Amino acid sequence: MRHSTLRQLEVFEAIARLGSFTRAAEELFLTQPTVSMQIKKLTDAVGLPLFEQVGKKIYLTDAGRELHQACRGIFEHLANFEMAAADMKGLKKGKLRLAVVTTAKYFAPRLLGMFCQAYPGVDVSLKVSNRERVLERMENNQDDLYILGQPPEGADVVAHAFLENPLVVLAPAGHPLAVEKGIGLQRIAKEPLLLREPGSGTRLAVERLFASQGLQPKIRMELGSNEAIKQAIVGGLGISVLSRHTLALDAATGQLAELDVVGFPIKRQWFYAHPAGKQLSVVARTFVEYLQRAPEYLRDLSCHHAHIGYCPLLGENESMKPSAR
Ligand code: PGA
Repeated sequence: MRHSTLRQLEVFEAIARLGSFTRAAEELFLTQPTVSMQIKKLTDAVGLPLFEQVGKKIYLTDAGRELHQACRGIFEHLANFEMAAADMKGLKKGKLRLAVVTTAKYFAPRLLGMFCQAYPGVDVSLKVSNRERVLERMENNQDDLYILGQPPEGADVVAHAFLENPLVVLAPAGHPLAVEKGIGLQRIAKEPLLLREPGSGTRLAVERLFASQGLQPKIRMELGSNEAIKQAIVGGLGISVLSRHTLALDAATGQLAELDVVGFPIKRQWFYAHPAGKQLSVVARTFVEYLQRAPEYLRDLSCHHAHIGYCPLLGENESMKPSAR
């Protein structure tokens, strides 16, 4: 193994990740015979087959899976070293791989925009999936940092809250409950409810709230995205509980009403998290420091919601401050 080159491992990693010799060759700007030759040499060094072909698809063998795991570690360490070396030269350079839950897409790209302006040498990739997928990615150590609405229970994870995430009850603007005050949750339980898909953190919070009060909501429909739910509310299919952040930049805001329900907004937080043992890269650590001031940065962005009295990204109290306008 020690005679295998880094290049061979790089070729192997690309094939394992992309599931194809051809795509790996394209990504690495190599010819296919070169790729095959590198893998042959690596296979000879290991002494076991690394891939198996079933029909047109290739799969990792057990040895291949082990080697893939080892490769990820090697390349992560090297990338971290490169970033540390750049840092020593006074440069913030490198890659930031971020995975965020669906609802974080309403603010994470804006924060990233400002971060990239401050650190032009940093390359960012952003994966957006629901809570379940993001937790899977964290378990497989696929990214540098994760943003989610609630850290996983029981897992060995480091998590810190950095921004409020208020959940509110939304109905179509003309809904009879839109003019009522102090509505009880038992009244909401009688309304047709639109719920996010299983695996969503928002859904989990809503289910827990109803269960904690011994109530059974009337689920009208499950939808796989916040945007689809908002459209369904406007379309009169029901009401829903969503993060107030889903109203950011929303042209349909005037068509939705936030109901005044007792116990709402549910005060959740946004957390950044990573597996407990993970060595954060220089770039990831810089981003973590930057996140400490996220509410301030978001406040400095001009907010076109001033006319409705609050900014969905910040909530009532924060958006009343003059700099939010
Ligand atoms: P979701 O997560 O987008 O998967 O619903 C949001 C949250 O956990 O608050």
